Amino acid sequence: MKIVFGADHGGYRLKAELVSLVRGAGHEVEDLGTSTGESTDYPDYAHQVASRVAAGAFDRGILVCGSGVGMSIAANRHGGVRAVVCSDVYTARMSRSHNDANVLCLGERVVGTGLAAEIVTAWLGEEPEANERHARRRAKIEISSP
Ligand code: RB5
Repeated sequence: MKIVFGADHGGYRLKAELVSLVRGAGHEVEDLGTSTGESTDYPDYAHQVASRVAAGAFDRGILVCGSGVGMSIAANRHGGVRAVVCSDVYTARMSRSHNDANVLCLGERVVGTGLAAEIVTAWLGEEPEANERHARRRAKIEISSP
């Protein structure tokens, strides 16, 4: 898969670990930064990642900030983006199987590297359930849907 990453200063260290993990798993990765602890604004990275996923240039996006919350709020402003903030593996799996989440947001100040790696691995490995009721509900998420 083609996966695009972004982080602010609160998430760049965890992002670096996850970029290595995901590259090592054989995915094509683009890292849009940030890569230092210099203060940045999380929406700048959320919008860069979410717009690329919305445009179809990438299959999935992964965003890391301090909590994951700001990234998810900003990413979800983009039509077609279904961003989820996760701090457990169950939610990560369900966000794929029921909600077809295409952007994963993590909080470096919330989850350790080991748990984050498990979350990312589970999230990348899970497919949406081929089930009419879940497809119908997902279609209803978009405000422009009938
Ligand atoms: C930055 O201090 C912090 O607010 C940011 O990383 C993120 O947690 C926002 O939701």
